[in-house]
Amino acid sequence: MRIQLGSRRRRLSLHRALVATAIFTVIGLLVLTLRSVDPSTHLPITTSDSENRDANPADITNLRSDSAQSLKTCATVEEMGEAFSREFSEESYRVRNIIQNHFAINGASRVRALPPEEFCRHGFVLGKASEAGFGNEMYKILTAAALSVMLNRSLIIGQTRGRYPFEDFISYSNISFTLKEIKHLWRQNGCLTKYGRHLVIRIDDFQKPARTNVLCSNWRVWEQPIIWFQNTTDAVAAQFFLKNVHDEMRIAASNLFGKPDDLHHRPNVFGELMRLLISPSENIQHAVNWALSGGADPDIALHMRMLMNRSVRAVQAAFSCIRKSVENLKLTSKPRVVLVSDNPSLVKDIAPDLNQFAEVLHFDFKSFKGNISGNSHVHTLNFRTKDWGTAPRWVAFVDFFLASRAKHAVVSGAHRRVGTTFAQLVAALAAANSLDDRSSAGSNFTFLSSFQSNLLAEGLKNQIGWGHVWNRFAGTLSCHNQSKQCAHTPILPPAWWDGLWQSPIPRDVHRMEAYGIRLSGFGTFDDNQLHSFCSSRKQFVLTVPLI
Ligand SMILES: *[C@@H]1O[C@H](CO)[C@@H](O)[C@H](O)[C@H]1NC(C)=O
Ligand SMILES: *[C@@H]1O[C@H](CO)[C@@H](O)[C@H](O)[C@H]1NC(C)=O
Ligand SMILES: *[C@@H]1O[C@H](CO)[C@@H](O)[C@H](O)[C@H]1NC(C)=O
Ligand SMILES: *[C@@H]1O[C@H](CO)[C@@H](O)[C@H](O)[C@H]1NC(C)=O
Ligand SMILES: *[C@@H]1O[C@H](CO)[C@@H](O)[C@H](O)[C@H]1NC(C)=O
Ligand SMILES: *[C@@H]1O[C@H](CO)[C@@H](O)[C@H](O)[C@H]1NC(C)=O
Ligand SMILES: *[C@@H]1O[C@H](CO)[C@@H](O)[C@H](O)[C@H]1NC(C)=O
Repeated sequence: MRIQLGSRRRRLSLHRALVATAIFTVIGLLVLTLRSVDPSTHLPITTSDSENRDANPADITNLRSDSAQSLKTCATVEEMGEAFSREFSEESYRVRNIIQNHFAINGASRVRALPPEEFCRHGFVLGKASEAGFGNEMYKILTAAALSVMLNRSLIIGQTRGRYPFEDFISYSNISFTLKEIKHLWRQNGCLTKYGRHLVIRIDDFQKPARTNVLCSNWRVWEQPIIWFQNTTDAVAAQFFLKNVHDEMRIAASNLFGKPDDLHHRPNVFGELMRLLISPSENIQHAVNWALSGGADPDIALHMRMLMNRSVRAVQAAFSCIRKSVENLKLTSKPRVVLVSDNPSLVKDIAPDLNQFAEVLHFDFKSFKGNISGNSHVHTLNFRTKDWGTAPRWVAFVDFFLASRAKHAVVSGAHRRVGTTFAQLVAALAAANSLDDRSSAGSNFTFLSSFQSNLLAEGLKNQIGWGHVWNRFAGTLSCHNQSKQCAHTPILPPAWWDGLWQSPIPRDVHRMEAYGIRLSGFGTFDDNQLHSFCSSRKQFVLTVPLI
């Protein structure tokens, strides 16, 4: 039986209550009574002392017992994931339209042809990435794309020495500009000579909280022709605009990302943007086709980031998560499951069991005879090996595009942190791809996280990476000593503030304070406090003239 969380209004007032409660104490004063029989859940808030938190979690979390009520001061990962188990295709179609309309107006082919006077008044957003970890770098470009939509500006994708990031493995669509072309057009149109307009970049560094204007400034009125929002390595940075103090920015942000307090109605923004912006290069595509050996697209993809570790528990948890996902799918034929891991031994460990009910696919680069070299040889460095495995760099791109062909589900597991940026982007792109087929009965795409019990001994406390999807749930509301879990996971990883079970870890509370946000133990904060933070703060402006 599914537990429905309360209406939006109820959650809002809950949050207000939580803010008030949080003033008195940091840890769990939240006692929730959930009734699995009654779909309109009652969430009475009472204060209690912290001893309640030490109650046996097995009692607290026994949600599904039909016996009326139980106390809840924490949730398991699966319970947290319930809010994300809903279908999201309607929201994603809505956002797909917004993005398409945006690029119809702001895409390079139209803007390039604008008359000089109009061109010289046009605005741009620059997305620039290096070739460090693919997930983080891709989010930089996707954040720029999202910002270009919010600000009604065109997108520029930055190149380094004339090359796009990961250009050997990724093709970029023609809807964006390069900086080189903008400079050329700026001169050709006489923007400076005839209209007196300098080509200036305004730079905002997200990772310098004391300087970034992400929360305090109205970016829509910025006059500089180019805006570069730097160091935005995950899904969170763009969603900070949902909390910007200016109405205009908040409206632009929630037009794209959905209402922040409505976490289970969030569209697949990054997947939709990615689908439009990138595709595999020809040689990577060739390898993907080879791995599929002419067969149909996989039904399910499993991504396991093992950091060279070989963990029996991780394998067992992932195995049961895949089995659960297969059971939900009710496929008529044997499911095709593609395995992706930085550790080849994982594939050997899990394949024999999976083979009993699934057809296992894996890109074995050693038997692939194609010619993919590329100029990235960073993979040979030792520090990269622990992070990304021993396979050459290009293999990760084959894996990425192969896994993103999964039609129904992506499962993410890990040795330590589940839901890496790589896995999130696989799931987002796969979900966007699967939405193509409107007629398909199976457009219920699911993203699942597989947790082995040892990752949950202290709840989600060790999911400490900012870019990692469960990080925002890792605080005091996460039950300790959970058994292994297979949890629904948001396709758009939320920011901090609106999920019922979101709670921060101290490290992030500290970090958010520098942005002007004083998070409570329940992941809520006081807007008024942010307003006064913003008004007492001097606006920082950094610009670089190009022409
Ligand atoms: C976006 O910019 C175009 C011109 O580039 C303008 O016609 C349109 O009204 C703008 N839309 C919004 C929502 O500001
Ligand atoms: C841009 O790419 C699309 C699809 O790949 C193609 O149909 C279109 O003709 C291209 N436009 C230009 C101006 O090259
Ligand atoms: C942000 O990115 C820029 C350029 O990519 C880099 O120079 C700068 O050091 C970064 N800032 C931080 C805080 O890492
Ligand atoms: C692998 O993980 C297990 C359990 O998390 C740990 O005990 C072991 O030390 C790890 N091994 C390596 C090589 O990191
Ligand atoms: C492999 O590709 C490189 C450049 O992409 C090319 O120079 C080389 O001749 C190719 N080798 C073979 C055997 O095709
Ligand atoms: C998605 O799943 C829900 C519940 O499992 C079901 O009611 C709905 O029909 C499904 N939608 C599609 C398009 O398969
Ligand atoms: C979790 O298990 C450990 C070891 O069995 C125990 O020390 C700890 O008190 C348990 N925590 C909770 C919240 O039950």
